[in-house]
Amino acid sequence: MQQTTQAQSSSRSGGAFEVDVAGIRAKARQDIESGAVTEGYRADREAVLKLLNEALATEVVCVLRYKRHYFMARGLNAEPVAAEFAEHAAEELSHADRIAERIVQLGGEPNLSPVGLLERSHSEYVEASNLQDMIKENLIAERIAIDSYRQMVDYVGDKDPTTRRLLEEILAVEEEHADDLSDFLDKN
Ligand SMILES: [Fe+2]
Ligand SMILES: [Fe+2]
Repeated sequence: MQQTTQAQSSSRSGGAFEVDVAGIRAKARQDIESGAVTEGYRADREAVLKLLNEALATEVVCVLRYKRHYFMARGLNAEPVAAEFAEHAAEELSHADRIAERIVQLGGEPNLSPVGLLERSHSEYVEASNLQDMIKENLIAERIAIDSYRQMVDYVGDKDPTTRRLLEEILAVEEEHADDLSDFLDKN
């Protein structure tokens, strides 16, 4: 019994890092309506929400473009390419879901309004008339997404690690998408 007390006091006096449990508990009770956003949140919440809503619009435009291309892909080599378009569409939709979920966690509202969707999106919606152009347009869109996610990761930095991790995970998938498309561009 006495030994435990000694061990506790020595770890405290040893200057080791300790979580300020009492302080955190008190703060957690205040502003309870803020949900996951606590006083320790160090990013500019409004700015992060705006970025996430732009990313959400980008993902939705990508879903629509990939779907259009999936249904319109024609030609000798169309089948595997169309299958890839369908797979990418599903993955962009899951990105949109994860981003919308994070927006809500941060106390914001996901903007899924079709009004102004293209203006909020970083990538474009180009229909393209043949398989080769479809592949090219999707590759361009992925390259836009890669650069914009990279800039968002840099902006968020270490101020909001959860959002940063989400953006980095999505960025890795966009890089895979771009890689898949450039392989098709070489073959077709
Ligand atoms: Fe995506
Ligand atoms: Fe993608």
